[in-house]
Parts: sequence; C-alpha cells; structure tokens
Amino acid sequence: MKEHERPRILLISVGMYGQKYLAEATQKDVGGDVVGVVDVAPNLEEKFPVLREKQIPVYRSLQDFYRADHADLAVISSPIHLHVPMALECLKQGSNVLCEKPLCLTEEETNRLADAAKQAGRFLAVGWQLNFDPAVLALKRDILSGRFGAPKRFRCLHAMRRGEKYYNRSNWAGKITVEGREVLDSPFMNACAHNFQMMTFLLGSTMETALRMASVEGELFRGNPTVENYDIAFLRFLSETGVPLCYYTAHPLKTKNLGQEGRGEFEHAVLTWGKGQPFRVVTDTGEEIIYGKDGDTDMMQKLYDAVSWIRDGGKPLCTPEAGLPHLLAVRMAQTLPVQNIAPARVDWLNEDGDRFPCVRNLEETMKQCAENWALPGELGLSL
Ligand SMILES: NC(=O)c1ccc[n+]([C@@H]2O[C@H](COP(=O)([O-])OP(=O)(O)OC[C@H]3O[C@@H](n4cnc5c(N)ncnc54)[C@H](O)[C@@H]3O)[C@@H](O)[C@H]2O)c1
Repeated sequence: MKEHERPRILLISVGMYGQKYLAEATQKDVGGDVVGVVDVAPNLEEKFPVLREKQIPVYRSLQDFYRADHADLAVISSPIHLHVPMALECLKQGSNVLCEKPLCLTEEETNRLADAAKQAGRFLAVGWQLNFDPAVLALKRDILSGRFGAPKRFRCLHAMRRGEKYYNRSNWAGKITVEGREVLDSPFMNACAHNFQMMTFLLGSTMETALRMASVEGELFRGNPTVENYDIAFLRFLSETGVPLCYYTAHPLKTKNLGQEGRGEFEHAVLTWGKGQPFRVVTDTGEEIIYGKDGDTDMMQKLYDAVSWIRDGGKPLCTPEAGLPHLLAVRMAQTLPVQNIAPARVDWLNEDGDRFPCVRNLEETMKQCAENWALPGELGLSL
C-alpha cells in the first residue's frame, strides 16, 4: 500500500456489536475509511444517519459488495454461524479479515480458515480484544520468559446480567443450533468468554498460541427457561500441561456485572486482575509488577491494529490458532448435562424497560465456588 493511501474498510453486519465498529470508524480517525456496510437488516440508513452523511453504501450481501467494489480490510460482526462462509469469501476476494470471536465452531473450520488466509496471502485476525491489550501482551511475554516459574492454577469469575432484550434481539441468542447449524451460544461461548480465552492465551507456549484443555468437570444450569442452551456455568478444566483452570459465569443474576475477578498462581508469583484493576503480579520476594493502568482495555484497539498492519506491515497475534483452545473447551463443556433451575427459585426483575430472570443466591454461590476453586456440589451448595 502506498504511503498516502488509506485502507478501505468493509463492515459486515452492524448489529449489537458491529455498530461499535461503525461508530469508531466514522467518529474517529482509525487510519482507514469505511467504504461499505453489508447487512440484511432493513432501514439501516434511518438507524445510522452517518451512512447517508458519509455516503457509505449498504449492500444486502457480500457478493453485491464485491461485484461493485473492493476492500483491504473486512470486519465481520455477523452471527457466529455465518463467520466461516463470510471469512472464506472475503479472503478469496483479497481482503484481510478481522472476524469477531468466536471465529468458528470446530477445529476443522479453524484449520480451513487458517489455510485459506495463508493461501490468500492475507491476515485473518480474531477479535478477542484482550489479546490486543498491550498489558496482556507484556504479561504474556514475562510468563513465557519464565520470570514467575511454572503456572500452577488459574481461575476467573465473570458474569453479566442479560434479560429479554438480549435474548430477543436475534434468532441465535441462547441457541444450540440455528437454521440447522451449530451456534452453541452461552455466556461461556460468547458474552463472558473473554477472560477464559485470555487465560488460555496467557498460558500458550508461544505468543500466537493458547493452551489446550485436556478434560473438564462442571455443573451447568438453565435459569432462564427461554434459553435453549445453558446460562450458568461452573467449570473446572485441566489443561494438557496439567494446570487447572476454573471458570464461573452466568447471565440470570441480579447484579449487572459480577467480576471479572481473576487469579493465577505460579511457582514464584501470584497474578490478580479485576474490573477497573490492573494486572498485578506479586513475586515470592515481594516484588510488585503492574501491567496496564486500570484493567480496561480499549475494545477497539483491534481495529487500529488491523488497519496499521495493512498500512505499515505487521501481523496479528490473535489468529485462528489462539482462539481454538477456547472453542474446544466450549465443546467439552457442551457435553455436560444441564439442570433446570426450579421456577420458584427465579425472581423476575423489571428494570430499564427490560425483564431479567434472577436466580436466588447465584452471586453468593459463584463467589464461594471461585474462592474455593470448587464446583457447587463439592461445597454442598445447590441452586
Ligand atoms: N468482542 C466483543 O466484546 C463482542 C461483544 C458482543 C458480540 N460479539 C460478537 O459479534 C458477533 C455479532 O454479535 P451481535 O451480538 O452483534 O449479533 P446481533 O445478532 O446483535 O447482530 C448481528 C447482525 O448481523 C446481521 N446479519 C444477519 N444475517 C446476515 C447476513 N446474512 N449478512 C449480513 N448481515 C447479517 C443482522 O442483521 C445484525 O445486524 C458475534 O460473533 C459475537 O460473538 C463480540
């Protein structure tokens, strides 16, 4: 790309999350320009007046866009089950791709997409934003250098309240399959997946890879009766290297945001992180190392990085490979039975024009389990 040229950006799907890319790329200078939007939703020009103001055309399909134009970068924020065909088409058309997480549903798809990117000579980055956070990358470099000794065990608690609006916004939310295709949507697969994926990324054996899990124990529940999959997960994985990773997540709770609250223990140091807190390591000798300022990464760093790789060279660390261990962990969790919470144990809360199912004592149970690296049954707790 010539020095004065600006990458041409195609935004694919501007739904709940994709509209954040639209806002960022039209309200700020991300280093490139949006040349088109692909989405099947009606009346997008009314919903997003900036499309008319900046004369950004809306296309109903990828084929329509590529017939008319070309893009250096395609940003995919479509429903999960559409990622694979869309990413393959964009790569085939010569665009680099930044695809929202999770990239796909299987290991075979992961490999197929990585091969397609290689063959096309384009990058395929996956939008796990924590993997783009300079604080996380600096921490990972120190872990890989052996500064803290071998990892012993990791855990994180992260839950976010989600109600009717969230589940009613699309046909795939909370579903196991949609239109005959797997989607496996759950807080562990999707909305609260970031901290688990980050733990696997931090423990990867190279900067580009993440650590795979070998086995899982867990208890899954369905608090919201309209959800097809589970919406509460207590999970304890054992990694291929023998490190336990505990993860606690849920949607049907009274508290808007619970956590994130993470802890990683090494031979010679303890790592902690949390909402509004930096990543903090304290070593056996009492040395304190702080990574980042407040623990809140700029979610859109990935867009700036992707544009700069096209302009200035460079390649993503958050590749299909980096997302694969999370995906395989999701598939392992999916084999566990799901227990329905008795309706009498669920209160419904009306707030902000939305309706939320709230499982009684869920917060306390999750905190107790996290504190003890345990599953509810092991502590004699039930929901
Ligand atoms: N990184 C994050 O923090 C984060 C947060 C939320 C969602 N996400 C990810 O973003 C992706 C989208 O999630 P969402 O919650 O915005 O979904 P959504 O259902 O709210 O929006 C999906 C959009 O895709 C459009 N769409 C549907 N079919 C289409 C088609 N055939 N062609 C083009 N557009 C089509 C819909 O009209 C809608 O605008 C998912 O992969 C999700 O996991 C990431």
